Amino acid sequence: MAALRAGSSLLMQSRAMAGAIRCSSTEASPSVVRVAAVAGSLRKASFNQGLVRAAIEISKDIPGLEIEHIKIDQLPFVNTDLEVGGGFPEAVEEFRAQVLRADSVLFASPEYNYSMSGVLKNAIDWASRSPNCWADKPAAIMSAGGGFGGGRSQYHLRQTGVFLDLHFINKPELFVKAFEPPAKFDGEGNLIHEDTRERIKALLIALQKWTQRLQGVCE
Ligand SMILES: Cc1cc2nc3c(=O)[nH]c(=O)nc-3n(C[C@H](O)[C@H](O)[C@H](O)COP(=O)(O)O)c2cc1C
Repeated sequence: MAALRAGSSLLMQSRAMAGAIRCSSTEASPSVVRVAAVAGSLRKASFNQGLVRAAIEISKDIPGLEIEHIKIDQLPFVNTDLEVGGGFPEAVEEFRAQVLRADSVLFASPEYNYSMSGVLKNAIDWASRSPNCWADKPAAIMSAGGGFGGGRSQYHLRQTGVFLDLHFINKPELFVKAFEPPAKFDGEGNLIHEDTRERIKALLIALQKWTQRLQGVCE
């Protein structure tokens, strides 16, 4: 019993220390967290782009959170021959700058053959070229797809993030089963499912808090 009490007191001490490291009372109040949202599908009625549009709408009700949808449709295929004199093609430079400007990243990742889509991996690869634009960014993932709601793409994306030093939140996870009733999206890929909106909101709040925690800013 005494050992148990000692153990739980140690746990509380270490939590308090972690809090002290990350969250000093002398820190300034939290500034706006700017999120870059990247959707891994190019099709017009994409469900994953619909998740990003919904996230942007929802963020307007979350004080201190701003989301910008950064597009990947103009990026060429990764080819290091296109890197000339230390520079990148114009669309790549723009994309890399948008990633760098953001405090954190929100991925909407469709599942293609049990992994992330080629266009998303292509975008990630461009911004990974030195200096790695993803380094130290807090991140979150949502996905819409078949039976697992895109889940397998998320796990591959997390694995890629290990090498890139992306810091993903673990929970909440957000897998949207797009082909199972009730309908989640209309014919244009707009989210029409209230429960999913609530889950996106919870994901965004978790990403905002995680970003502030990594920035050393108190809630
Ligand atoms: C090449 C390709 C591979 C796919 N592989 C999978 C898969 O492995 N698992 C799955 O659940 N859905 C798979 N799908 C279905 C997509 O996940 C589904 O069409 C999803 O809606 C695509 O995202 P989007 O609506 O944002 O375009 C695949 C679709 C394509 C085009």
